[in-house]
Amino acid sequence: MIGRLNHVAIAVKDLETSVRLYRDTLGAKVSSPQAEPAHGVTVVFIELPNTKIELLQPLGENSPIAKFLEKNPDGGMHHVCYEVEDILVARDRLKATGARVLGDGEPRIGAHGKPVLFLHPKDFNGTLVELEQV
Ligand code: CO
Repeated sequence: MIGRLNHVAIAVKDLETSVRLYRDTLGAKVSSPQAEPAHGVTVVFIELPNTKIELLQPLGENSPIAKFLEKNPDGGMHHVCYEVEDILVARDRLKATGARVLGDGEPRIGAHGKPVLFLHPKDFNGTLVELEQV
């Protein structure tokens, strides 16, 4: 059911420092920061030959990654995103197995302008999983 790894998201406290790390130290292709107020994050996309890394910095008061950074003050891997062909089919199949879909269970438009859903980390080896319809 799941397809390609679309991206790995890393929560960071200081986007500028992290951009320098990926651009200058690791020599990666790094985008300009993009504010996503609806998701409470500012995102930087890092293009790798086979996938993407997304750096997420909290934006606004109720950022969903603020708590994560309290627990992980150095930053850390926040979620992995797998591609699916049909997000509603994927959701219903997962729900039928008892997996928990976060929020109201309806897909939202993610940072790439495509429908996404998040799955509870306790049902997936302690890893927050994002599904993106491609
Ligand atoms: Co993501």
